[in-house]
Amino acid sequence: MRILIIGAGNMGKGIATRAIAGGNTVTLYDIDPQASRSLADTLSESGAAKTSVTERPSDAARDSDIVILASWYGSNLEIAKQLGNALENKIVVDISNPLNETYDGLVTAPDTSAAETIRQALPASASLVKAFNTTFAGTLVAGNVGGDSLDVFIAGDDTTAKETIKSFVQSGGMNAIDTGALERARQLEALGLLGITLQGPLGTGFMSGWKLTMPAAA
Ligand SMILES: NC(=O)c1ccc[n+]([C@@H]2O[C@H](COP(=O)([O-])OP(=O)(O)OC[C@H]3O[C@@H](n4cnc5c(N)ncnc54)[C@H](OP(=O)(O)O)[C@@H]3O)[C@@H](O)[C@H]2O)c1
Repeated sequence: MRILIIGAGNMGKGIATRAIAGGNTVTLYDIDPQASRSLADTLSESGAAKTSVTERPSDAARDSDIVILASWYGSNLEIAKQLGNALENKIVVDISNPLNETYDGLVTAPDTSAAETIRQALPASASLVKAFNTTFAGTLVAGNVGGDSLDVFIAGDDTTAKETIKSFVQSGGMNAIDTGALERARQLEALGLLGITLQGPLGTGFMSGWKLTMPAAA
């Protein structure tokens, strides 16, 4: 699949690493062109031949199967508005945890979520899927936590779009867990916050992961 990642920071690197491992084609855009070039160089050094950079995110979005908003909540919202019609009929992924300034709460009201707010900024024909907000960047680069594959919790209202995101997640060697409608992003964003607040007490250095254990297959 052709993946456009907007935001070449920690999560941009993590998601790009898994995307490339899964044989997908990655294009990077960052507000700072040097950041996307630098990440592309880093990914190429590790043998990835399928990474390119763009300074024209609207054109790149039109040419992509999945557009991943990999910046902070406020920036993701702005990017969604700016790309506007370029996101017609696109699958858009929001990965944000809408943290407050002290990283111990969310700025969104309890009866909504970052994902639902961003959804409202997209063209009606776009499909918004919440994903990756509960997986730390370093674990995405590593591809596992203590040898266990990563669980990526997703939410969205468009079943077909979620199937595409599931395939993308699985291509990178991860498990996709569909939690239901986009409204479930409220719980996923709370789970993301809980994961962050646990890092200090547990001393896990943002390298832990949420894992749903399953009963043995019948
Ligand atoms: N880090 C994690 O482990 C983790 C885990 C789960 C979810 N998340 C979520 O993932 C998102 C990104 O986190 P991160 O740690 O990757 O942050 P980050 O390292 O700061 O990366 C964000 C990147 O986006 C760039 N950017 C800002 N505004 C932009 C715009 N309008 N257009 C294009 N690029 C823009 C930033 O550039 P500047 O630095 O120049 O502003 C930066 O390079 C956040 O919403 C966070 O809540 C993070």
